[in-house]
Amino acid sequence: MQRTLVKDAHNATAAADAILLQGWVRTRRDSKAFSFVELNDGSCLKGLQIVVDASLPDYAQVARAHTGASIEVRGKLVASQGQGQKWEVVATEFKVVGEADGTYPLQKKGHTLEFLREIAHLRPRSNLFGAVFRVRSRLAYAVHQFFQERSFHYVHTPIITASDAEGAGDMFRVTTLDLENPPRGEDKHVDHTKDFFGKKTFLTVSGQLEGEIFACALSNIYTFGPTFRAENSNTSRHAAEFWMIEPEMAFCDLQGDMDLAEAFVKHLIRDVRTHCAADLEFFSKFVDKDLLPRLDFVLEKPFVRCSYTEAVEILEKSGKTWEHPISWGANLQAEHERYLTEEHFKCPVTVYNYPRAIKAFYMRVTDGCAPDRQTVAAMDLLVPGIGEIIGGSQREERLELLREGMALHHLDEKAYWWYLDLRRYGTVPHAGFGLGFERMLMFVTGIGNIRDVIPFARTPGTADF
Ligand code: 4AD
Ligand code: MG
Repeated sequence: MQRTLVKDAHNATAAADAILLQGWVRTRRDSKAFSFVELNDGSCLKGLQIVVDASLPDYAQVARAHTGASIEVRGKLVASQGQGQKWEVVATEFKVVGEADGTYPLQKKGHTLEFLREIAHLRPRSNLFGAVFRVRSRLAYAVHQFFQERSFHYVHTPIITASDAEGAGDMFRVTTLDLENPPRGEDKHVDHTKDFFGKKTFLTVSGQLEGEIFACALSNIYTFGPTFRAENSNTSRHAAEFWMIEPEMAFCDLQGDMDLAEAFVKHLIRDVRTHCAADLEFFSKFVDKDLLPRLDFVLEKPFVRCSYTEAVEILEKSGKTWEHPISWGANLQAEHERYLTEEHFKCPVTVYNYPRAIKAFYMRVTDGCAPDRQTVAAMDLLVPGIGEIIGGSQREERLELLREGMALHHLDEKAYWWYLDLRRYGTVPHAGFGLGFERMLMFVTGIGNIRDVIPFARTPGTADF
């Protein structure tokens, strides 16, 4: 007999004489004549009620079906007498596959997120994390759908790379352990690392530069993969390992880039709103009660666009005292991003045209707009509650200005010869951006800490897996 998933049982249009369910016990309630077991298999938020008659030959098994045990149930799908569910299953066979005793950490009482983080191997079985990781899966699907429907090609950029795309310097170095040739007289497990590729290599911080190679051949591309940064991993919105989506478009300027970013973010919200409705309702009940109205509001209105220069004026005139003083030329800090999105505009804001000195070497110098040549065609999308979720720009396609940018950032032209070649041979205006996948998940779930939207957070002290 084929297995029926709990979500399909909930959505059944007719009763069924014989179905097979497999999953884990959430709760059990015993009365004299019956036991009620709530079975969950991760296919949806809500468990399915299994009714086991005490006269059933298998009834002895039920006593072993504690919270957390895995079970297999055959039975009839019938209309439920109980409130809040359409269907329930009357068991004809009931089997415990794997027991769980009273030490099972996920007992019925609520647990703190901090505690659940310590049991990352069990937390996907909780209601909250089941919902988070279903939404994560759906969101990844929606990413591909958005780009594939628009004829963007998916490019796999390297994880191990010699280039530092962001110039931020916070990279993880990649080396090999040379265990075969330990220096004489030394323990062979002493860490003798060497560079496998004959030069220094790192885990990628961004697939952008390699993405540009493909945009300059296939026109519209996107990447979607893990990226690594050895930075700030102790804030609630920075992770050392996170996933990023990076589209890159040939023959595109900053306007087109901002338009795509807005359409993309709205598509993702609309998609999970439709396909993960029950999970989002759960978040809006237990995590953030403003979640659903906020998401609906974001879908309705165009995002505000505001130049960096205007943003700084707004911040200066706000009358606030800032922990990080703000004036033209300074980077926007979290407190400034919060003020712009939560207090001033009260909606998502795309800030564009940033000072050249605080942005990456590859961004296009803006000419003809004040202050002339002091800014680059960069854009960041800021959202209430989180701050930056997207960073992007139009790229400098003019060889001489790109070389100037590299010199300003003290980069060695020899290391980027291939990147400069893209400007030597058939250069085109092009633009792209990077969306932090976990930050987007925080936005659509209302969850406040990045460690709770990634299956295995890579933070100091948590890498047991
Ligand atoms: O603004 P960033 O650094 O931009 C880039 O990497 C560009 N190469 C993107 C491009 O133009 N193709 O990072 C992009 C986004 C940020 O807006 C943020 O959402 C996310 O990546 N991000 C992080 N997310 C989690 N943890 C971190 N440490 C992150 N650093 C950046
Ligand atoms: Mg950024």
